[in-house]
Amino acid sequence: MASNRIVHVIGTGNVGEPLIGLLADFREAFGIDEVTFTKRSPLAYERAKVESLVRRGAQLCVDRDVREEFIRLGHSPTYDAQEALDRARVVIDCTPSASRNKSQYLNMKGPAGFIATGGVELGFGKLYINEINDSSLVPGEDRFIQVASGNAHSLAYIVKLFGFDGDTSRLGSGRFVCMRRTSDFSQERNFVPSPKVLPHDVEGFGTRQAREAAYVFKTMGLGLDLRSSAVQVPTQLMHTIWYSLEMDRPLSTEQAIERAVESRLVAYTDKQSATLVFAFARDHGYHGRLFSRLIIPTLGLSCRESRLDGFCFEPQSNELISSVAATIWFLYPNQVRQRLEALAPFMFDEV
Ligand SMILES: NC(=O)c1ccc[n+]([C@@H]2O[C@H](COP(=O)([O-])OP(=O)(O)OC[C@H]3O[C@@H](n4cnc5c(N)ncnc54)[C@H](OP(=O)(O)O)[C@@H]3O)[C@@H](O)[C@H]2O)c1
Repeated sequence: MASNRIVHVIGTGNVGEPLIGLLADFREAFGIDEVTFTKRSPLAYERAKVESLVRRGAQLCVDRDVREEFIRLGHSPTYDAQEALDRARVVIDCTPSASRNKSQYLNMKGPAGFIATGGVELGFGKLYINEINDSSLVPGEDRFIQVASGNAHSLAYIVKLFGFDGDTSRLGSGRFVCMRRTSDFSQERNFVPSPKVLPHDVEGFGTRQAREAAYVFKTMGLGLDLRSSAVQVPTQLMHTIWYSLEMDRPLSTEQAIERAVESRLVAYTDKQSATLVFAFARDHGYHGRLFSRLIIPTLGLSCRESRLDGFCFEPQSNELISSVAATIWFLYPNQVRQRLEALAPFMFDEV
């Protein structure tokens, strides 16, 4: 089966659902033969989303012992979940138990690569952020890739945008406050009624976001001084990050704006409010998502000599793009950027 370009996704939650849809919609451009996915629990209230994914071209796979229940709900599963794993070339685990599942994957002969989107527990594989540490991936050696969390993507893109000249780091230190939305639109639990401060529980880095971003740069041989704090805020809209970068050369506010304007990956905006950016994504994005890696409100940028302070809105699609990029890398190691060009219609210069 190893010659088939079959991609199998496990989990249909907050991360799995949009990823399965994205892979199915763009499977030709990404060079994928088949997209299959495992849904664990047969649930009537999730029937519509599963059938929508099937209509978009993905194939439902379920465990043998719940197959009849899925059929009773009106689904037509194709493969058994274990069979789907065995026939896949790339497996993407979008469940909270990805790290624990790794021992099972280690013994599997079929798949060429495994990807985890779990951002919390480290240890699944090499931490990866598309357009940051692609050069650290080694064909034939890296069989396990762990996509960094969404906030870590933002931190890394901010550092690369303002704190690097080309591939050379000019960063002295980076400090970040991740103002995290309490829940996604797809979640109905755990809303917080007021800002809730999260503990600094990661030694040396403050919170896990800076640790992940620093570890990604470490795969490129760079030791960056990054430190983050996090607070949950009562909104379902985009995460917002505040940053303060100390660099070894001056950068004017005009130069910082110019970098945001000229970047291929980043969108700038004169909007100041996440709700306006979110509304733009709903009306002009891909199923409500922007594929620009960061949205920089230019009015929030302020430089004094070699220190830059600013904000960004996080478009909530970076972990999806990196998961797709890692998938393409396993299938076509030299064609990641070229095949991701299919997403360009949903990347914007200005929002
Ligand atoms: N990299 C990132 O940026 C990022 C962002 C958000 C989340 N995450 C991480 O990604 C993981 C998933 O998050 P989520 O928000 O998508 O979770 P979620 O919405 O709770 O969904 C979890 C999904 O996993 C399925 N599942 C759980 N255990 C399973 C198992 N043993 N076998 C098969 N399916 C199983 C569930 O299936 P049923 O509902 O059918 O039972 C559900 O579809 C978490 O570890 C989270 O920390 C990463």
